[in-house]
Amino acid sequence: MSYDNRCIAVFDSGIGGLTVVRELMNRLPHEDIIYFGDTARVPYGIKSSETVTRFARETCDFLLQFNPKIIVVACNTASAAALPTLQETLPVPCIGVVEPGAREAVLQGRGGTIAVIATEATINSDAYRRAMKRFDENARVVQKPCPLFVPIAEEGRSSSDAITMAVARDYLEPLVRLDPNVLVMGCTHYPLLRSAIGQVVGDGVKLIDSGEQTARTVIAELTQRSALNDTKCEGKLTCYVSDNPQRFRELGQRFLNKTIVDVTWISPEQFFAVSQANSA
Ligand code: DGL
Repeated sequence: MSYDNRCIAVFDSGIGGLTVVRELMNRLPHEDIIYFGDTARVPYGIKSSETVTRFARETCDFLLQFNPKIIVVACNTASAAALPTLQETLPVPCIGVVEPGAREAVLQGRGGTIAVIATEATINSDAYRRAMKRFDENARVVQKPCPLFVPIAEEGRSSSDAITMAVARDYLEPLVRLDPNVLVMGCTHYPLLRSAIGQVVGDGVKLIDSGEQTARTVIAELTQRSALNDTKCEGKLTCYVSDNPQRFRELGQRFLNKTIVDVTWISPEQFFAVSQANSA
């Protein structure tokens, strides 16, 4: 049985991808993870696909310096815009969050209507619908951007907060009228509001967390490549951000469900020097 002790590299537009890291750390506690949060350029969810693709490519080139065995695009917006380009051009395997979430929704949806909520850019890209149609060409998909959920989650408003509930009702009640039987939380921040979302859509609608499904896909991919780590030591999480490490450390704990110890700020000069040196 072979193994691979190189790190798993993960990136997002900011702190949200830590919900994906949380799922990875729960399932793969011995793996070392390098995380990059592009906090200087967040949010991606209101930017064009071209810009997000360029940012994602620059970040992957930055991450290549760590010699990762796999890169996880833990951002729905970046996965929706850039995954095919990244997979075609990067020298390492690359997994996004859209495909795993879409696959699980089709499985759990059993032919009923599937609802997707995400950022404006993810919804406009139609990436979730296209992925679902690949798994089931008859899939019925309804979609809705829910941009206010991102700042609400970052502000630390709970699911019982009056503003959270008012926004959740305003976004989700029109979707509920379309009678979905599953709902995909297609944005890194939404799992933090799972309880508010669940209250509005009701028990009859299964919630799919794309981050959780992605962690399962990463395990399957590494297992298939005989590339899991063979050490018994606890894996290390090392974070890099392009702005405001203090805010990342403070807010990130809620997303990760753990204290974040190791966060380093990368200046634009450092970021672009490394990124350009590694670009193909
Ligand atoms: N991480 C982004 C996503 O999952 C949400 C935040 C942003 O707009 O950059 O789509």
